[in-house]
Amino acid sequence: MSPYITEDRRDIVRILIKFKEDYKEALGYNSGNLNAHLMNDKIGEPLTSAFLAQIYEAAGLMKPSCSVYHQMTEIINRNFNLKRDIVEIGSGIFPILGHYLRERQLKLGKGSVTVYDANVWTDYPTKAKLVRSYFNSRVSVTPNSLLVGMFPCEATETMIERAEQEDLEFCIALCGCNHSDIPYLSTAEYHKLLIEKIQDELSRRKRLKIEYFPSSCFGNRHRGFPILIAKEKPKIKLFTLPSKTR
Ligand SMILES: C[S@@+](CC[C@H](N)C(=O)[O-])C[C@H]1O[C@@H](n2cnc3c(N)ncnc32)[C@H](O)[C@@H]1O
Repeated sequence: MSPYITEDRRDIVRILIKFKEDYKEALGYNSGNLNAHLMNDKIGEPLTSAFLAQIYEAAGLMKPSCSVYHQMTEIINRNFNLKRDIVEIGSGIFPILGHYLRERQLKLGKGSVTVYDANVWTDYPTKAKLVRSYFNSRVSVTPNSLLVGMFPCEATETMIERAEQEDLEFCIALCGCNHSDIPYLSTAEYHKLLIEKIQDELSRRKRLKIEYFPSSCFGNRHRGFPILIAKEKPKIKLFTLPSKTR
């Protein structure tokens, strides 16, 4: 069974029409590049292009069970308190994860979401705050903010360093690139090194948990790359013994 709602290339055209002329500016693609992407991605097959995955998602064509953005929102919601300042880093063109998290917050009545990416399309309809620039050490973050990233690529290690410096919780779905200084590391080798480094450097109040996307997101073939979840350890309650037994 196809993991996607649409199996018809005409749906892609419908999506682009929905975005009208905006899509050209928003996507930063000329129609030649776009056609090349469409040729490579067969509708109904697991997507090879994160670019098209974002278009499908932004146009509401993905089933939630197959959508990495919906599933990441669930994972973040399961692991963290959302009633706080959340900073999404490396959203890409469509700030979808930040938007879904903001929608949750609006129901909860508390919190904020700020999205940083020099490529973000600032006309995207969302109540999240969109900042069209890169996140770096000069960007201030309120204490107890949660840093989140969906395949944030070059921003991955920047986020981790910042979270460690300010003892912040974070949730990052890793991409498949090697962002270390060591050339030729395989994806698995890079992820292993990164995870070991985080475990060494994380404050004693935090613990690192690894989760994966459900296999339904990738046509049941695999479960993507690790999702790093750094969160506060549960507080241990100390019970005082009744005075008679002391
Ligand atoms: C793989 S892409 C986009 C992934 C996107 N979240 C998705 O779901 O497809 C990684 C993005 O990270 C952004 N990026 C890289 N370094 C960044 C930084 N320091 N701050 C914010 N965004 C950054 C790039 O502009 C790029 O859009």
